[in-house]
Amino acid sequence: MADFGRVREAFPATKHVTYLDLANKNILPQPVIDEIGRFVQDAGSTGGDKDGWKRVVEETRAEVAGLIGAGPDEIAFVKNTSEGLNAAARGLGLEQGDVVVLNDLEHPNNVYPWLALARHGVEVRWVRSRDGRIPLEDLERQIAEGARVVAISHVTSASGFRTDLAALGRACRQHGARLVVDAIQSAGVVPVDVGAAGVDLLACGAHKGLLGVHGVGVLYCRRELIPSMTPVYAARDSMSAAAAAALEVRFAPDARRFEIGNPNYLGIHALRAGVRFVREIGAGAIESRVLALSGLVLDGLRARGIASATPSVASERAGIVSARVADPEAAVRRLAARGIVVSVKGGALRVTPHVYNTEDEIERLLALLPAAA
Ligand SMILES: Cc1ncc(COP(=O)(O)O)c(C=O)c1O
Repeated sequence: MADFGRVREAFPATKHVTYLDLANKNILPQPVIDEIGRFVQDAGSTGGDKDGWKRVVEETRAEVAGLIGAGPDEIAFVKNTSEGLNAAARGLGLEQGDVVVLNDLEHPNNVYPWLALARHGVEVRWVRSRDGRIPLEDLERQIAEGARVVAISHVTSASGFRTDLAALGRACRQHGARLVVDAIQSAGVVPVDVGAAGVDLLACGAHKGLLGVHGVGVLYCRRELIPSMTPVYAARDSMSAAAAAALEVRFAPDARRFEIGNPNYLGIHALRAGVRFVREIGAGAIESRVLALSGLVLDGLRARGIASATPSVASERAGIVSARVADPEAAVRRLAARGIVVSVKGGALRVTPHVYNTEDEIERLLALLPAAA
């Protein structure tokens, strides 16, 4: 059982604010702050050790792989979730008449990469959400009817609905569809196991549950799929070693085929520290704590007659809780004035507790909430 008091102490921002906005961006733990400081100090005083930075890139690759049940050869570093999803969408080689299934709870960054394939004749079909949930049976119907790809958030950004990836992965495998996952609202918050869930591709930025910074993200690509994936970009680092030496175009046999040029070394250093911190606490322990806190928020909303699009069943949610309060924009401003950070999403107040929050903070938030919408 993790000591969540000590975990909280590792986040300096908790001394100044009640931070309930992980779904927007994180607050950094001290090991990540220290890592960034060391990198900058080093680069400033000596120019830094680029070979050492490259070793850190490989260590980070292994850490991220370990967190999501992948192999290091299946991980590429990208700029953010959007770049990873675009690499997935473009790389799959979809053609005229191929169907991609989306749903109306997706973040736009998991919609545009697929809509933009229209000029190649790719058709997007929409599954409609019901009560903040994406009905599995509706996705399964599309898959059975021959969809080539399902692109979906593990946890949706507004209602916080958590999809049963294992069940969806089974349906995709049965019918030969590809499962592409936007994991930015789940990685580091609830366990993600790409192998167990049968995920083909997964993209995730570093600036939320992975406790890193903006401008770096990861793309997971299932090993067996890599040879058939065509990268959009090409540079020396995306080639196999022999090809790079001969100036020939032969993409690397592993996920590094998606990488080009110098990466965000600073961001990757931060990510290594962030993912190590997450793994030290343990994804399962984080999930239990987050579910307990988001459950408290939901109970409090119910007691105050405030509706929520977030499922009450624990297996169908993570940290995000949506609250239908009157004038949510004004509520965010009023709460900010009291040192409580939340945001607005989908026309509702969005509250996202994480491991560093306490029951007292949730009580304080609930006491200051405006009336139901
Ligand atoms: C589900 C989801 N996808 C993607 C993003 C962001 O995409 P990117 O990492 O490309 O900025 C967010 C929020 O920032 C999100 O909630």
